[in-house]
Amino acid sequence: MTQTELTKAYGLVHLPAKVVLAVTEKPGGGYNLITMEWFMRTSIQPPMFAISVGHNRYSYECLQEHRFFNLVFPSVEMKPLCAMAGSSSGRDIDKFEKGGVEFIPGKLHKLPIPKEAVAVFECEVVTQVRSGDHTIFVGEVRHSWANKEKEPLVYT
Ligand SMILES: Cc1cc2nc3c(=O)[nH]c(=O)nc-3n(C[C@H](O)[C@H](O)[C@H](O)COP(=O)(O)O)c2cc1C
Repeated sequence: MTQTELTKAYGLVHLPAKVVLAVTEKPGGGYNLITMEWFMRTSIQPPMFAISVGHNRYSYECLQEHRFFNLVFPSVEMKPLCAMAGSSSGRDIDKFEKGGVEFIPGKLHKLPIPKEAVAVFECEVVTQVRSGDHTIFVGEVRHSWANKEKEPLVYT
């Protein structure tokens, strides 16, 4: 074991990674998607997930305005969508339209449920905490969806 630069240590533990998409509602109407690696389950009962969102992301503005999100666990077919949603901003484009995302309306505020996903958790934000240049939004799961036929995406 040798002491090293932060980026070198990060590089060793970065992959493989699980990624998710978070669906949010835009302040002016419509929906946005963001690719996320920094998420986790935080409670069994009630069921909860936390997501860490950068302050310069449009999704951050969306979550400040509308206090819910859908956490989407993508299938392998959704890799191009994850790449697009992680490299462009909802300020500039409609990611649902650009990605040709087929969806059904969810039960919580009708936020979209992408049809190709492995699982989707509809969450209501119950608390948030600032973490440096990100904010951690903790959401309580209100509804859950699953697609047994789909293979989960892992970034390698
Ligand atoms: C694999 C991957 C993982 C990412 N994880 C996060 C994350 O956990 N939190 C975050 O704020 N941004 C993350 N990003 C960056 C955002 O997805 C990216 O900045 C996106 O363009 C923001 O979109 P928005 O402006 O529409 O919110 C990730 C990007 C990629 C490609």
